[in-house]
Amino acid sequence: MYIQDMNILIINGPNLNLLGRREPAIYGAHSFDDYFTGLKAQMQTIRLEYFQSNHEGALLDKLHEAGFTADGIVLNAGALTHTSIALADAISAIPAPVVEVHISNVHARESFRHHSYIAAVCEGSIVGLGLEGYRLAVEWLSRRHHKASKLEG
Ligand code: DQA
Repeated sequence: MYIQDMNILIINGPNLNLLGRREPAIYGAHSFDDYFTGLKAQMQTIRLEYFQSNHEGALLDKLHEAGFTADGIVLNAGALTHTSIALADAISAIPAPVVEVHISNVHARESFRHHSYIAAVCEGSIVGLGLEGYRLAVEWLSRRHHKASKLEG
């Protein structure tokens, strides 16, 4: 029996449902579902949830829904990172801390991937470390949450 004392949501945007099959030389050979199963097993004290959508509006709705109750959100917005002011506004609108993750090193790729509309409104970004970036983001959010709880208590 273990206590799950915090809620963290991982959100993946467009095309990330194809992980494992999509350009494996760039994004690796593992599906996100397999990775997520392993992550949950490693992090049993955290209530981890996962949401993926290819639709910008569905991602906005999820941020609005979870953003007032989650203790942290890990967001890989896919290509919407480079286009969506609406996602940036949604992140600004919610109190939950959001960490931006990219599997590939976007700075070493095409120039249109170098700019992120969401970076400035996220707590920070993890870029180019593969799927491990999600685990690092969850660990950081968990440490941040515990530090904040200690200060409050
Ligand atoms: C990505 C990088 C984006 O530029 C791209 O559009 C994606 C995936 C990544 O995780 O490396 O869909 O967010």
